[in-house]
Amino acid sequence: MPRLEPPHLRFHRSYLAAVAEQTAGPRPVGPLMAGVLDRHAGGWQESEGFARFVAEMRAWARGDQLPPEMPVPATVLWWTEGDTHLGTLFIRHRLTPQLLDFGGHIGAAVNAGARGRGHATAMLRAALPFAGRLGVDPALLTCDRSNTASRKVIEKCGGVLEDRRGNSLRYWIGTANATKTGGTGSAPGVEASSQS
Ligand SMILES: CC(C)(COP(=O)(O)OP(=O)(O)OC[C@H]1O[C@@H](n2cnc3c(N)ncnc32)[C@H](O)[C@@H]1OP(=O)(O)O)[C@@H](O)C(=O)NCCC(=O)NCCS
Repeated sequence: MPRLEPPHLRFHRSYLAAVAEQTAGPRPVGPLMAGVLDRHAGGWQESEGFARFVAEMRAWARGDQLPPEMPVPATVLWWTEGDTHLGTLFIRHRLTPQLLDFGGHIGAAVNAGARGRGHATAMLRAALPFAGRLGVDPALLTCDRSNTASRKVIEKCGGVLEDRRGNSLRYWIGTANATKTGGTGSAPGVEASSQS
């Protein structure tokens, strides 16, 4: 059963395969992914380079090594099954004025080959208790109004539409109940800071 985990070296092969698939596709990558590729793609074929990437993804939660495209501390979680990386979700610990309009607290992407199987919905549901434990309640999620899949995911997870700003639909989701019930994913190990 898929679960949320912190970035880890054991997903090296699977993560790079997913990125290769994504970057070969017709849609350009977003600014966050573009920054990651810029900083790490040159060296992450080797395990040392991938370890630097994993360390950066974990450091963001402490507010360390934050790049310009991630202006606030953020917890990065990977949606995984066995040694397979299926998707990525990040929880920004707070908002900036820009993120309040577009971006919100939680962003997510499912690898192209794994889409349309309910992963995004399950991943977001599982992430809500983590957001709650980080003090993010309610969580703001935004999506482009043309992004039907994202809109459906947010609404299925309880998102309440506040308004539209430009092309951005803005939804709030309470995380307190998700925290109390533990959500759908217990995600053991997410709080652990070690990479072993
Ligand atoms: C948006 C995204 C996360 C959805 O992932 P997913 O795992 O395919 O989503 P799910 O399988 O949970 O599907 C959720 C709903 O969207 C629908 N859906 C999935 N892909 C769709 C598409 N291309 N067009 C329209 N609806 C779609 C599903 O049918 C489902 O609706 P249903 O329950 O009524 O059947 C994924 O497409 C993605 O990573 N896109 C690129 C990054 C992105 O846009 N992220 C969101 C911005 S925050």
